Amino acid sequence: MERTGTATAHTNIALIKYWGKKDEALRLPFTDSISLTLADFYTTTEVTVLDSALPKRFTMNGSPVQGKAADRVWQYIARLQQRFGVRGSLAITTENHVPTSAGLASSSSAFAALAGAFAAAYGLQVDMQELSRMARLGSGSASRSVYGGFARWIAGSDDATSVAVPIDEHPSFALRMIAVQIDVKPKAISSTAGMRRVVETSPYFPVWVEHNVDACERMQQAIADSDFTTLGELAQQNALDMHALNLTARPGFTYFEPQTLQVLQAVDQLRQEGVECYYTMDAGPNVKVLVQPEHEAAVLERLAVVVPDATMLSTGVGPGITMSAN
Ligand code: DP6
Repeated sequence: MERTGTATAHTNIALIKYWGKKDEALRLPFTDSISLTLADFYTTTEVTVLDSALPKRFTMNGSPVQGKAADRVWQYIARLQQRFGVRGSLAITTENHVPTSAGLASSSSAFAALAGAFAAAYGLQVDMQELSRMARLGSGSASRSVYGGFARWIAGSDDATSVAVPIDEHPSFALRMIAVQIDVKPKAISSTAGMRRVVETSPYFPVWVEHNVDACERMQQAIADSDFTTLGELAQQNALDMHALNLTARPGFTYFEPQTLQVLQAVDQLRQEGVECYYTMDAGPNVKVLVQPEHEAAVLERLAVVVPDATMLSTGVGPGITMSAN
């Protein structure tokens, strides 16, 4: 009989970034990282273990997936099957509710949902930390997407110890994130390639590693204190540190586009005017603005003037993974 597992996982935005692996195959990071899981951007994946020797299938949003993206997924599945000693041809169906226009990487929700659906389909008894470990093997940031609210990925020292833990799944302070999408072109340098170049060539990489230890401690304290100002300042500085690091690689590179700077300047200007908001950015030119609900409208209004062609989507704090089997 065919068995199907389904899981829904939400994307997360890193407030203190993961940017550098000490083991590429296991996706072991150099540093801890801290993230916020988002409400409106998520992936639902269904995995069916097929009866007989039926061919494997993978569809996303109704269309078959082939090429590099499919290869990455099937290699990942082979790895999980080997780890758990299970076999079978699989049908994978994914619905990605992460609008490209949000400029948010969907790999965090995608691999967390896939790990969850895989575990549910095979009836594996996995706890949240094991699930986080499984998700990490697909994409580092996915390790944090098994939890809602704030999560911390502990770098650890090997496969068993590199897992995310929840910090506060139901934060008491209301936080909003506005995704400002200024470019939908595919990334020139993937996050995997970007962080690799930085690790291998930037003379400043050790400084980043050392600095992030302290940044994580301070961020965790800011979350515990519901201190939005400190949270925002730390997140903004950490994003600048990461993007500065990219310029110091050999050869240097940047994800910034001219409009990126316009948005960053507008956020700094808004803050000077008393509208408290902060930015962060991942491996792309789009900007994410952190703001409390009372200032959201003012930020949206200003950015609509500064970058009139940009798409803006705002969202709140999202939940952890849900899984079911039948
Ligand atoms: C800038 O998780 O996409 O978003 O492990 O190579 O798949 P791989 O990288 P990925 O990198 C995310 C980088 C980041 C920061 C972060 O999410 O912590």
